[in-house]
Amino acid sequence: MTRLQVDGRTVELPAGATLLDAARAAGAELPTLCHDDRLRSAGSCRTCLVQADGRTVAACVTPATPGMTVDASGEEVRNLRRDAVALIASALPPHALADDAPSELAEMCRTLSIEPDIAGTPLTPLRGRDDTHPYVHLDRDLCIACGRCVRMCSDVQGTFALTLTGRGADTVVAPGTGGAWADSDCVACGGCVDTCPTGAITQPGPGQGFTSRQPDPDRVRTTCGYCGVGCA
Ligand code: FES
Repeated sequence: MTRLQVDGRTVELPAGATLLDAARAAGAELPTLCHDDRLRSAGSCRTCLVQADGRTVAACVTPATPGMTVDASGEEVRNLRRDAVALIASALPPHALADDAPSELAEMCRTLSIEPDIAGTPLTPLRGRDDTHPYVHLDRDLCIACGRCVRMCSDVQGTFALTLTGRGADTVVAPGTGGAWADSDCVACGGCVDTCPTGAITQPGPGQGFTSRQPDPDRVRTTCGYCGVGCA
C-alpha cells in the first residue's frame, strides 16, 4: 500500500494508484476531460492539475508515491484547473456550451461557473461535420483532441478505426482510413459516442448533435459477442 497526504488527510492506496485516485480517496473532486476510468490515461488536457510536493502536475498520469504531500483543493490549484477548462472551452464554437448541451465539458463549465459566452472564438477555421455514417456523426468543431474516442476504439473495442490527424490546435479525430466515416472500419459499437466529453461524436436521433451520455430509450439484449463495450 502507498500512504500519502492529500489536503491534510492521510490516504492509503494500492500500488499503481495515481494522484487522481488519491485525490478522489480524499474526497477532492477534480475536473477531468481526457481521462476516462475505462481507458489508459493520456495526461493531455491538464484539467486535473494538483500540486505534489510543490510541483504542479496532472493528477491522472502522476503515480502516487509514499510520503507525498498533495494539495488538491487549494485556491491556487482550483484556479489553475478552472483556467485549463476555460482555455479549452474558449477555443470552441458557441454551440459547445449551449444551454441544452449535456456534454461533460458543458456540465463542467456550469459546475465551475464558466460562462457559456467564453466559447465562440475558435482557434481554427470551422472544420464542419461528417454525417455520412448512419449511426455515428462527427462535429469536428467540437473536437478537443483528447483522444478518448481513439483509445476506446483501439484499446477497448479493438477496432482501430479512429486516429488523430493534424497538428497543434488543428488536431482532430478522423477515421484511420482517411476518408468519410461511412467508408471507415467503424462497426458502430457506440464506444466513441459514449466516451466523447464534448458532444463532438454523437449518435443521430432526437436532439441530434448532442445525444452523447443520454440514456437509451429502450433496453435490448444483444448477442454480438465481439464488442468490447459491454452492453447487455
Ligand atoms: Fe488529467 Fe486530462 S484528465 S490531464
